[in-house]
Amino acid sequence: MPGRRTLWRNLLPRNGRPRPAPSASPARTRSVPPLLTIEAVSKRFAAHHALRDVDLTVDSGEFIALLGPSGCGKTTLLRCIAGFLTPDEGRILIDGEDITRAPPYRRPLNTVFQSYALFPHMSVADNVAYGPRRAGVGRTEAQNRAREALALVGLEEMGGRLPRALSGGQQQRVALARAIVNRPKLLLLDEPLSALDLKLRRRMQIELKHIQEKLGIAFVFVTHDQEEAMAMADRIVVMNAGRVEQTGTPAAIYRAPTTRFVAEFVGEPNLLPLSPAGPGRARLAIGGFELPAAAAMRCAMVRPEDIVIVEGMPAADLVTFPGVIEEVLAIGPTTTLFVRCGEVVLKVARLGMSGADLTPGSAVTLGLRPAALHLIAE
Ligand SMILES: Nc1ncnc2c1ncn2[C@@H]1O[C@H](COP(=O)(O)OP(=O)(O)OP(=O)(O)O)[C@@H](O)[C@H]1O
Ligand SMILES: [Mg+2]
Repeated sequence: MPGRRTLWRNLLPRNGRPRPAPSASPARTRSVPPLLTIEAVSKRFAAHHALRDVDLTVDSGEFIALLGPSGCGKTTLLRCIAGFLTPDEGRILIDGEDITRAPPYRRPLNTVFQSYALFPHMSVADNVAYGPRRAGVGRTEAQNRAREALALVGLEEMGGRLPRALSGGQQQRVALARAIVNRPKLLLLDEPLSALDLKLRRRMQIELKHIQEKLGIAFVFVTHDQEEAMAMADRIVVMNAGRVEQTGTPAAIYRAPTTRFVAEFVGEPNLLPLSPAGPGRARLAIGGFELPAAAAMRCAMVRPEDIVIVEGMPAADLVTFPGVIEEVLAIGPTTTLFVRCGEVVLKVARLGMSGADLTPGSAVTLGLRPAALHLIAE
């Protein structure tokens, strides 16, 4: 991959020789530190705790999504990493070096803000070459780097245009080219796609992910869109009221949320209350099904796609219970049925349109496999 080789050239030390691999040095016994380490970081604005005791590590080349509702502290955390804010407590390290109090320009990272903040009077190429020029790179070399960065984002033909002559998605890519032209190890992106319409946003998610993989730059990507986080990230950090609720792969966050907040923020869970049924056992509110559970477990989560409508004889491993359809909601490729089972209304997702027999008022038998139940304490 020629693009990648040229990028690496710029990461080499001044004498042009590659750095020795960590294992080549016998003195170095411990493993390589993470690219970014955030240790017990807290930040207050007057009486308001914007960040509380946040821990996070990011490895080289990793794509991390910071996900959480408005006001939960995502931008504040990003600004602490970038150096625009100083934490009240805790430390931030890059490659094991404490940079908590280093000024922004000393940090080997770059930021893409929600507003693209392009210079309107400069051509696209000059916008991208601006960073290297300011860093003291010669004009020709800066232009070459700008051309290379624009090619990476698929805008090699657009260098001569002014930003206003580009579409929103193209301007977004110029902002990205401008952020990667200096070869940061780490790119911070604060809701970079939120100004785009849904279709363009979906396309840019795929493009951005490809560019990130091609460059091998670590991304910390802020979003409050759970689908965006699921689609793009290697790991998701779910934040709530200044705290990290859970960090994990998209699959772990979706399948095994550790808190009710995470379960409800990501996707559409069914949360079924549990009642104690003797030592080490609990009873599900629906169907009277008993399962092993520690006393702390308050509810069992099951995703709508894991509940089936049983027709004919149920499979032996299914727990079944009767219900009545209250509502049918067909959105694009999936249909969600709201089915009342005693006190509880369950969401049941099916692919395609529901049949003529599945209408409000119809009696149905629902089934689920106990393995699809995930227990949550809080
Ligand atoms: N400079 C500031 N002074 C006072 N309060 C602030 C300041 N910056 C942020 N806050 C508060 O800190 C909290 C976290 O803000 P932050 O911008 O980090 O949220 P966010 O998760 O990025 O939200 P959004 O999704 O809306 O962008 C909010 O309650 C906000 O009002
Ligand atoms: Mg924000």
